[in-house]
Amino acid sequence: TIPSEMISIRNYLNELFGSAIKAAYPELSDPPIVITESTKVSFGDYQCNSAMPVSQLLKAKNIKASPRDVAVKILENLPNSFLINKTEIAGPGFINIFITNEYVVSAISTILKNGVFPPTTKKMRVVIDFSSPNVAKQMHVGHLRSTIIGESISRLLEFVGHDVLRLNHIGDWGTQFGMLIAHLEEMFPNYVKESPPIADLQAFYKESKIRFDNDEEFKKRAYDRVVKLQSGESNSRKAWQLICDVSRLEYQKVYKALDVTLEERGESFYQSRMENLVKELNERGFLEEDEGRKIMWGIKGEDYGGIPLTIIKSDGGFTYDTSDMATIRNRIEEEKGEWLVYVTDAGQSTHFKSLFSCARKVGILDSSKVRVDHVPFGVVLGEDGKKFKTRSGETVKLLDLLDEGLKRSLEKLKEKERDKFMTAEELRKAQENIAYGCIKYADLSKNRQNEYVFSFDKMLDDKGNTAVYLLYAYTRIKSIARNCGEEFIKNFDTIKKETKLELTHEKELKLAKVLIQFPDIIEKILKDLHVHYMCEFLYQISTTFTEFYDVCYCIEKNRQGEIVKINKSRILLCEATATVMAKCFDILGLKTLDKI
Ligand code: ARG
Repeated sequence: TIPSEMISIRNYLNELFGSAIKAAYPELSDPPIVITESTKVSFGDYQCNSAMPVSQLLKAKNIKASPRDVAVKILENLPNSFLINKTEIAGPGFINIFITNEYVVSAISTILKNGVFPPTTKKMRVVIDFSSPNVAKQMHVGHLRSTIIGESISRLLEFVGHDVLRLNHIGDWGTQFGMLIAHLEEMFPNYVKESPPIADLQAFYKESKIRFDNDEEFKKRAYDRVVKLQSGESNSRKAWQLICDVSRLEYQKVYKALDVTLEERGESFYQSRMENLVKELNERGFLEEDEGRKIMWGIKGEDYGGIPLTIIKSDGGFTYDTSDMATIRNRIEEEKGEWLVYVTDAGQSTHFKSLFSCARKVGILDSSKVRVDHVPFGVVLGEDGKKFKTRSGETVKLLDLLDEGLKRSLEKLKEKERDKFMTAEELRKAQENIAYGCIKYADLSKNRQNEYVFSFDKMLDDKGNTAVYLLYAYTRIKSIARNCGEEFIKNFDTIKKETKLELTHEKELKLAKVLIQFPDIIEKILKDLHVHYMCEFLYQISTTFTEFYDVCYCIEKNRQGEIVKINKSRILLCEATATVMAKCFDILGLKTLDKI
């Protein structure tokens, strides 16, 4: 019987063919199961391409069987299933798989009845670290990428039911705070009683650096303040707090605009944990002297990054590496994380390899129990192919960038005269959802491993795989049912329940078969956390929808424009399409619109 929930077709076929191959060839301990999507309708919906490699493996065992023979034997052992309508052997031994229309209809009906649900997975406690800007330094486009990708991965993990802790590992600790505090004392002696009006923290940072480099007295004081801060002395703590607050204000504006949720747990949180950890590493003999510093190597022989972690600097201070040894321990031992995710630029790949290897070496990380992922992304380039900077060569302020997006999306809406059909409130919503949606989607739709060219023109294009195109497509699909007239809308719930879904036209089936791949897409992303698969899927849905809509009438009108016939089943297919798209947008962090 057909299951009442949507299944991952690929996983299901994997199991089915896996058991067939094992039954056919028990002598092979780990036979390759190769299931792919067919590239042509005549080849069926899916293909099993295991016959060739299986034949090779048999040959190595001196058993002679051609790939075609193998394919025949696999099919003889294939259990009956609700999913498979028929199979065919093609070419040298490909098995073409045609899935049943009954399953397709049932899966679409499930979407209409229950909405879109994730495939069942074992629930895990996940700790994900993303965004993570640094206090007193400009939050830059790299942090924007981390924020956007991290938010989307978090949403996906939450959607499948994991217990997700989203952490913002802010760079709020380290020796630079000594000089910031010393400078604050000088500039605003009254800071303990009255909050200092620092508007531009970067400028403040630069000033204090100049003081630090040119004045020995100041330098001494700065060192003293670091010690005081780390020992918890109250005035220095207060000064540090004030400086962090200024930064926090800016991040929060960015997070609010982009609808990002994060719990702040900066480097400072780990101070006492670092002390304990370092003491332990020392006692257990993991640290090595190196020109005054103390370093630690990962496990040689595995992919350990090739460079050591610096655990103690020559001046006795801790480093970024030390804090990350503490994060991994805290997240596994205290937070009970079963899956740790770190989203940063690809430049830190070596750091994370060393980190994971060192953590394994000391016994913090047992890779058979805890999954760790560094999720790297490439650098952001400007349209000129160079590092993304302002015209004068400075780091682009994220808030300025978001404002620019708003300005451009409004221009675009006005250019298309959409503003004429909207209330002021609707226009503002459209402006925001399009601007932020484009910025997110442009980032998420590219393979994150590659460099990424930031271009407002490209992201605001209404053709191709862009947010504008897809948001428009969605709104149009949603409006189809609305065009069926008031009576229809009023009774839509009953119509949904009572209409028998019929998918007979080739293009109806094609669209439906794309939609029901949703669980497969989720499974695929969970493997390597590449969110762009979801964007490709959305784009595929909307192009397949266009193919369907071009040839399949949903509403027929006469010359006077009056509705003469409504094809209810097709309206339901439109509705299912919108439901799946809405879920994808939601996971990507994009907000849809009723009107654009
Ligand atoms: N603050 C760092 C940066 O700006 C990113 C921190 C990422 N998280 C971590 N646990 N190392 O590059």
